[in-house]
Amino acid sequence: MELVTSVADFSAALDAHRAAGRSVGLVPTMGALHDGHASLIRRAGADCDVVAVTIFVNPLQFGPAEDFDAYPRTLDADLAVAGAAGASIVCAPSVAEMYPAPVLTTVHVAGLTDTLEGASRPSHFDGVATVVAKLFSMAGRCRAYFGEKDYQQLAVVRRMSADLSMPVEVIGCPTVREPDGLALSSRNAYLSADERAAAPTLHAALRAGAAAVEAGETDPAAVRAAMGAVVATEPRLRLDYAEAVDAATLAVPARLAGEVRLLIAARLGATRLIDNLGVTVPTSPTHGATEPRKAGHACAGA
Ligand code: PAF
Repeated sequence: MELVTSVADFSAALDAHRAAGRSVGLVPTMGALHDGHASLIRRAGADCDVVAVTIFVNPLQFGPAEDFDAYPRTLDADLAVAGAAGASIVCAPSVAEMYPAPVLTTVHVAGLTDTLEGASRPSHFDGVATVVAKLFSMAGRCRAYFGEKDYQQLAVVRRMSADLSMPVEVIGCPTVREPDGLALSSRNAYLSADERAAAPTLHAALRAGAAAVEAGETDPAAVRAAMGAVVATEPRLRLDYAEAVDAATLAVPARLAGEVRLLIAARLGATRLIDNLGVTVPTSPTHGATEPRKAGHACAGA
């Protein structure tokens, strides 16, 4: 596996692979790689001839009071994870290499970034969209793999790539979880033993929301309340938001229908955790198909 730190070397290496007829899979990361990242790398390897992993803790996407300085930087361990998962090349540029001059050009994806994480972390998604646009330019034509764990980020990146006709196919991959349901995240490393024990409550809250939807609840406020009630059982968790939104638009509809995404964010001590779950609103039973209706009998909800 090749390690490069220069943008020019990275672009040249991927250009050479494409010129030789090889397809490229890109896995952008901020390092502190865990099995969730490894699953993206493995998926990219299954789909593409060459897997390129970027490791860059992007200052643009951290707010002034956030954990940019404290964010785990574990390059040697990351190289071992990337290599074992099948990466062919890792690009780990410095901040000066990525941003040699003050950044005057940023990317803003309107609408999708106003709510949820965007409401709690103003400018976060501009930082993400800007660095991902840069990484896509550096990598060139490729497939790019992102975890559904950051569901809103995935939606933002997908929309940016489509709106700007980038030569990149954005692929979302399922969240990898610990056996107790906690979604893998580099920030889990910040949790004390006590906090780690409380953290799976977020996933339990999402499952309660999904159960409500599956039982026929279509009022987003009721689903939100079902999730909030579970979070309230764990006093160490401070809920930021719990929402049931349309999976494509991320908007809260008047009534839930079709594909729904449940998203949640909470603080646990000094750590902010996010998670999400997809659920499909059951279609109304077609009584006629299994039990012929008597003439004149009105079906509830019809
Ligand atoms: O998900 C992440 O690790 C980061 O937000 C990303 C996409 C690598 C951009 O810095």
